[in-house]
Amino acid sequence: MTAKIPVNTQESYDTVARKICDHLGLEYVEPLQAYAWQVHLVKSFERPLTLRVGIGQRTENVRQEAWALRRLAGSPANPPVLHLIEETRTGETSITYLLRDYLEGSVLADVGKLPPESVMPLERAVRISHRRGIAGLDINEENVLITPSGARLFDFSETMERNVVGPERFKEARLYDLDDLARLFRYYVPSKPGDSIRCDQP
Ligand SMILES: Nc1ncnc2c1ncn2[C@@H]1O[C@H](COP(=O)(O)OP(=O)(O)OP(=O)(O)O)[C@@H](O)[C@H]1O
Ligand SMILES: [Mg+2]
Repeated sequence: MTAKIPVNTQESYDTVARKICDHLGLEYVEPLQAYAWQVHLVKSFERPLTLRVGIGQRTENVRQEAWALRRLAGSPANPPVLHLIEETRTGETSITYLLRDYLEGSVLADVGKLPPESVMPLERAVRISHRRGIAGLDINEENVLITPSGARLFDFSETMERNVVGPERFKEARLYDLDDLARLFRYYVPSKPGDSIRCDQP
């Protein structure tokens, strides 16, 4: 970002998000969920986008997420399109943000059951991210969005990278993800009696 955003560390995420929108010429709509104070719904020429903001210590997970999304770009594991990530500073305070497409849908925790056709794509998404050197480490029912075009994994803010931690720790991280995935599959409701799913360890 070339121009500075006049932010004050005391201001809420909401105010900062509005200022970023003014700066980028986006329309601010609302915080996406009351408890997700980092994530906001915004619009660009009527196209809904999510704006994720990190201030101070919270800049790190925004950077982490942007990194993971870049690594996953072009794979079926990649959910929303990453539009941009930028950083700015006011005095000692750094601010990071990233914009992605907004996906219509609800989190699995609210939907309450996993559609049968979503099971394989979800497992595939996790395995692809592992092959690309990323373990999500936060795979749970709040971080899976059930959309009309299928289930999407999102929230890559807690990821672990194989290049950073080395193969041994990364293997543990992969197993951790697969355990989480198996827990998610409890939301699966078989379409006919006797159907079941297994999540094999690698
Ligand atoms: N691209 C998106 N499209 C639709 N909804 C989204 C999108 N990104 C986030 N959301 C919604 O915002 C909520 C919070 O997003 P996310 O899980 O990324 O942040 P968070 O859990 O607050 O972050 P953190 O885990 O770093 O504290 C999600 O549960 C989801 O409902
Ligand atoms: Mg989350």
